[in-house]
Amino acid sequence: MDTIVITGASSGIGLETALLLTQYGYNIIGIGRSEYKCKQANEWIISKNPKAKIKFYLADLLHQREVVRVAEQIIQYLNENCNGKLHAIINNAGCVRSWYMTTDEGYEHQFALNHLAGFLLTYKLLPALIKAKGRVIMTGSESHKGIKINWDNIMLYRRYNPLVAYKQSKLCNMLFAKGLNERYAAEGIHAYVVDPGLVNTDIGNKETGMLVNFIWSLRKRYGVSPAVPAKTYAFLCEQSPPPDGLYYYLCKEKKYSRQVTSQNADRLFALSERLCGIQYGKVQKL
Ligand SMILES: NC(=O)c1ccc[n+]([C@@H]2O[C@H](COP(=O)([O-])OP(=O)(O)OC[C@H]3O[C@@H](n4cnc5c(N)ncnc54)[C@H](OP(=O)(O)O)[C@@H]3O)[C@@H](O)[C@H]2O)c1
Repeated sequence: MDTIVITGASSGIGLETALLLTQYGYNIIGIGRSEYKCKQANEWIISKNPKAKIKFYLADLLHQREVVRVAEQIIQYLNENCNGKLHAIINNAGCVRSWYMTTDEGYEHQFALNHLAGFLLTYKLLPALIKAKGRVIMTGSESHKGIKINWDNIMLYRRYNPLVAYKQSKLCNMLFAKGLNERYAAEGIHAYVVDPGLVNTDIGNKETGMLVNFIWSLRKRYGVSPAVPAKTYAFLCEQSPPPDGLYYYLCKEKKYSRQVTSQNADRLFALSERLCGIQYGKVQKL
């Protein structure tokens, strides 16, 4: 049975994707930050699919020490139960903020969770992914378009605009996936970004101010159920051989921003490696 790690599996898109992938017969490792919500999510999945193979690990992925800790737990689990192999990682945990907030490391929240957490977690799990010729799937967004990376002020500290920070973090998802494909295609790795579309979840109602909360409460009513984008993740996990292409919406390839270049991907890799204290060229053996 192939194993898939899903971050942000305790609600919204990650939760529905976890359920659907258990129905396809995958062994799912969900990551969430709240013990209560992970327990609820686990019970909900089992109630829908009594045969589900699912377990949750707790980690606040805003903080790098937590990313590293949970990665170590997962590696141990994979070594003991899955022959050290990981079929896919779905870097889906994400947040929206209303104002400038920083992690313990001093990194802006949306950049830290939406980009750096997946960058670091994938690095830590890469040996297991390579062993399985696995897939890396990012939850991106159409909002990655119409923006450039602010290389001189990546945390957007000066004149912080939360929407710009969100859009930039989603452009980082695209550049990360592109850079992974360019570095690890020869090892059998395939990296993708899923655009889920507008989805009816509570993302804009968590840790946001009154205005964002209010706007999102109205906007999300026009969103589809998280069960809709879940099908695209299942498609990308299931296809054999893995499809080419980078950016997917409703199980089909889609055009992406012209900012998604090899040069920008290389630049983001170098910067993110420095911020995480890792070097992608140097992957530890299991
Ligand atoms: N909804 C949309 O229309 C839309 C559109 C485009 C892209 N997206 C992207 O879709 C992804 C999932 O979002 P969603 O809409 O499904 O929202 P959601 O329901 O709020 O899901 C976000 C998930 O991330 C988890 N999370 C948040 N902060 C975390 C942290 N510090 N550490 C670990 N996990 C954390 C949440 O945990 P809790 O359950 O504890 O809150 C939840 O499981 C995000 O990357 C988002 O940017 C969403």
